[in-house]
Amino acid sequence: MENFDEYETVFIGYPIWWGDMPMIVYNFLEQHNFDGKTIIPFNTHEGSGQAGTQNTLENMFANTIVEKGLALRGADAQKMEADTQAKIDEWLEELGFPKTEIESSTFNFETKTVKLNSGYEMPILGLGTYALSDEQAENSTYWALKAGFRLIDTARIYGNESGVGRGIKRAIDEGIVTREEIFVTTKMWTSDYENGESAIQASLDRLGLDYIDLMILHHSQPQNDITAYNSMEKAVKEGKIRSVGLSNYYDEDDFDRVANAVEIKPALLQNETHPYHQSGKMKNHIAKYGTVLESWYPLGGRGHTQTLFNDETIASIASAHGKSSAQIILRWHLQAGQIAIPGSSNEQHIIENYDIFDFELSQEEMNDIAKLERNERFSNY
Ligand SMILES: NC(=O)c1ccc[n+]([C@@H]2O[C@H](COP(=O)([O-])OP(=O)(O)OC[C@H]3O[C@@H](n4cnc5c(N)ncnc54)[C@H](OP(=O)(O)O)[C@@H]3O)[C@@H](O)[C@H]2O)c1
Ligand SMILES: Cc1cc2nc3c(=O)[nH]c(=O)nc-3n(C[C@H](O)[C@H](O)[C@H](O)COP(=O)(O)O)c2cc1C
Repeated sequence: MENFDEYETVFIGYPIWWGDMPMIVYNFLEQHNFDGKTIIPFNTHEGSGQAGTQNTLENMFANTIVEKGLALRGADAQKMEADTQAKIDEWLEELGFPKTEIESSTFNFETKTVKLNSGYEMPILGLGTYALSDEQAENSTYWALKAGFRLIDTARIYGNESGVGRGIKRAIDEGIVTREEIFVTTKMWTSDYENGESAIQASLDRLGLDYIDLMILHHSQPQNDITAYNSMEKAVKEGKIRSVGLSNYYDEDDFDRVANAVEIKPALLQNETHPYHQSGKMKNHIAKYGTVLESWYPLGGRGHTQTLFNDETIASIASAHGKSSAQIILRWHLQAGQIAIPGSSNEQHIIENYDIFDFELSQEEMNDIAKLERNERFSNY
C-alpha cells in the first residue's frame, strides 16, 4: 500500500466469514506496521455481528488502538437505504469524523466548485498570474473569464493586482461575468504582516473591488504571521474578505501552530504541488480542519513544465485521451482533490487549460500518476 506510514487511522472493511476475518485481512495486518496507529473495523455479516473480531484485532497489536467498529447486515449494506446511511453517519460522527467535514471538501465536477469550510463555494480551476506584468495580467484575466474560468489568483508581490482588476472590470462591463460569479484570491506579503489592515485595504483598492473572496498569507513567518492572520479575520468581520487561508506551510506542526491559534480556521492552503511533489501528507493533515489544498506550480512552473509534459507516464496518458500533457496534469489535480491555478499569458493555453471537463482519468491512470511522486520541489521557497 502506498504511503502507509503517513496514515494515523486505518479503516479496515471485511465480511465475517466463519465467525472470523478472511485470511486476506490477516495477511494485510501481518504485512504492515500498525504501531501508534488507530484501527477502525467495519464489517458485513448475516447475524454474527463483529463476531469478536474487534477483540482479535486488539489482541494482535500491543501499541495500536482499536476503535469500536460498525457491523452491518450484508443485505442492508448493499441497499444503503437512508437508515443505513444515517447509521454510518452517526458512527463516523462518534468517531470524530463528522460528515460535514468530509462533504465540505468534495469537489463538484458539475458546478466545478468546492464548498470551503467558510461556507463559500470556490471554483476548483483558476488562472495563476505569477510573473505576469500588469498588462499581461489584465489580458490573461479577461481571456480566462471569457474561456470559462471563474477563479483568479494574484498577490500583492506579483505587482499586478491593478491589471487583474482591470481584466475583471473589462469582463464585467462586457457582460461576460458578474462580480458575484467570480472568485478572486490575493495574498498578503510577509513585509506587510505587521500592517495587515492597510495591506488589505491597499489590495482592495488596486483590485478595484469592495471585497476579496479569499486572502492568504503568502509565507509562513512565525514571528508575526498570527498577527497578520488576525488582521484578515477582522476584515472578514467587516465584510472586506470572505475566506482566509495560508500559503507555503510545508510542515504539519507549523500549519497547526497557526490553525490552532486562530478563530477562523484556514479555508485553504496553497503549496507547491504537482506530480513530482504531490503533497499527499499535508493534504490529509489539513483535511482535519476542513482545509482544502490548492496547487501552485501545478504544471511545474516556468522553466520546468517540459519536464512534466514529457514525463513518459503523463505523455502516454495524454495520447490515450487525445489531450495535451497540461490537460492531463490539470485533470489529475482536480480528481486528486486539489484546486489548480495554472499560470499563463497565452490565450490559446488558457482556453486549453479550461477544456478538461469532457474526460476523466481512470483509477488506474490516477494510480500511475500517484507513482510519479518524488517529493521533489522545483522551487525552494
Ligand atoms: N503561493 C506562492 O508562493 C506561489 C508561488 C508560485 C506560484 N503561485 C501561483 O500559482 C500559479 C501557478 O504557478 P506558475 O504560473 O508559476 O506555474 P505553472 O502554472 O505550473 O506553469 C506556468 C507555465 O506554464 C506554461 N503553460 C501554461 N499552460 C500551458 C499549456 N496549456 N501548454 C503549455 N504551456 C503552458 C506557461 O506559459 P505561457 O504563459 O506561455 O502559457 C508558464 O510558463 C501562479 O501563477 C501564481 O498565481 C503561488
Ligand atoms: C464463507 C462464508 C462464511 C460466512 N460466515 C458467516 C458467519 O460466520 N457469520 C455471519 O454472520 N455471516 C457469515 N457469512 C455471511 C457474510 O458475512 C455476509 O454474506 C456478508 O454480507 C458478506 O459480505 P459481502 O456482502 O460484502 O460480500 C459468511 C459468508 C461466507 C461466504
